[in-house]
Amino acid sequence: MPGKYMLNFDSRELHQEDDEYIVLGSGIAGLYTALAASGAGGSVTVLTKCNMMDTNTDKAQGGIAAAMGDSDSPSLHREDTIVAGAGLCDDEAVAALVNEGPKRVKELIGMGAIFDYDGQVLALTREGAHSQRRILHASGDATGAEIQRVLTERVKEKKIRVQENQYVVDLLVWNNTCYGVLAFDRDKNSLKVYRGKVVVLATGGLGRLFEFNTNPEIATGDGIAIAFRAGAEVMDMEFIQFHPTVLKLPGAPPFLISEAVRGEGAYLRNSECLRFMPRYHDLLELAPRDIVVRAILEEMARTGSNKVYLDLTHLDPEVIKKRFPNITRTCAAYGLDIMVDPIPVAPAAHYMMGGVKTNLVGETSIKGLYACGEVACQGVHGANRLASNSLLDGLVFGGRIVDETRQFLKDYHPRHMEFACDWLLEPPVIDFADLREKLEVLMGSKVGPVRSGDGLKESLDFFDCWSCLNRHRADNVEQMEVKNMLQVGELVAEAALARRESRGGHYRADYPDTQRRWQKHIVFRR
Ligand code: SIN
Repeated sequence: MPGKYMLNFDSRELHQEDDEYIVLGSGIAGLYTALAASGAGGSVTVLTKCNMMDTNTDKAQGGIAAAMGDSDSPSLHREDTIVAGAGLCDDEAVAALVNEGPKRVKELIGMGAIFDYDGQVLALTREGAHSQRRILHASGDATGAEIQRVLTERVKEKKIRVQENQYVVDLLVWNNTCYGVLAFDRDKNSLKVYRGKVVVLATGGLGRLFEFNTNPEIATGDGIAIAFRAGAEVMDMEFIQFHPTVLKLPGAPPFLISEAVRGEGAYLRNSECLRFMPRYHDLLELAPRDIVVRAILEEMARTGSNKVYLDLTHLDPEVIKKRFPNITRTCAAYGLDIMVDPIPVAPAAHYMMGGVKTNLVGETSIKGLYACGEVACQGVHGANRLASNSLLDGLVFGGRIVDETRQFLKDYHPRHMEFACDWLLEPPVIDFADLREKLEVLMGSKVGPVRSGDGLKESLDFFDCWSCLNRHRADNVEQMEVKNMLQVGELVAEAALARRESRGGHYRADYPDTQRRWQKHIVFRR
């Protein structure tokens, strides 16, 4: 059982700052929430773990889904989202996403986001499991970077305070009410307390727990770990989405090759050069992600290879260059001409469907603590997120938090509480870098896209063995990160072992079927 804190401290001895909103994270969910809160007259501080631009949002390629095309409608978007979610989507959350999504996207355009156009109309592409072309994109395949740019500019323009390099160690919670956060200022090498009436977790996902992943370095699951330690409920932790096509080239980082490439007609071929998706699903290369991932893994195993190939060579080179300039450039930097050579790819950890449990307005089970974006779980993605719904999720549910809190903030005057911890032992003398590497390998091999009871038990033995670290204080950010990763990895493995069926992003080789009696959520609380 983890303790409540990772460090010994006494808040009375620390520098303290006060705001109405403390927003943790600077991706789309965090910055949009901060802008909405500031627009509603709230005082806001955004804390980021590293640089403001180090976010999953900045890396997003494919786009943002919203029913904005002539032949599209929120109800079609809703249907696709629910089918992809494999029986676990929350209907009301999906309705909020698809109905409010177009308005929020228009707001983003109003803020200055420049999406791609075909003449006078927004250019819309298709991705896996979408029945319509409904994905807006920017600069071809750099949608996230455009959104990050525009939100960052607006935040700076509004003079919203952004404190970079603040590693949030723990939430300050008493009697199930959150009063703020304890943060480690990496620039000043000191601890600080940020008090807030509303603390918003928008810290992103946990892809970095896995050896092969698409996420930036910040994505180590800290938000889930600090919320769980503080007593918040977490839900659907077993549902991790693996992206089917991530560059697998010696010497190259695991760079995402957008699903939109398949949306524009690219084929998947195995190492024998054969197109295989027709044998697996009617939607071929645009089948739901989990199905494409397992098809790829099966082909890799059958042909004894660690990769398959994404083939664009039959497509018009001019279209490829225009639609995918970033992918074209990045592959070229590693000696691959994608007009001529098929791209070697393999599945990698990409997105967390589960997270800190919230209701439809972002409230967690702790008063004053809210969550939105990838760290949150209100059930909108069910067991498997529909492609390009994640950026939209950040906007819609971030906005809802502010709509919900602006009123109650006026009459909410929390007591002034102080916090302390003094019982943690000295930091352990172990090699944390080595431990982290072992954890990442274990997660990839035993808690990855294909799981089994034996493998999951093995991983839980590993986490159990390292639970002794909970008695010790951490010495630095690297140690805190590893402790959070252990915490979150254990939650994923525990939920995956409990769910004795296969559904969406969770596949058990020993329970390959979906079971009606498992059409329910797993919720954990410390
Ligand atoms: C992609 O471009 O394939 C990623 C989009 C997403 O994860 O929704």
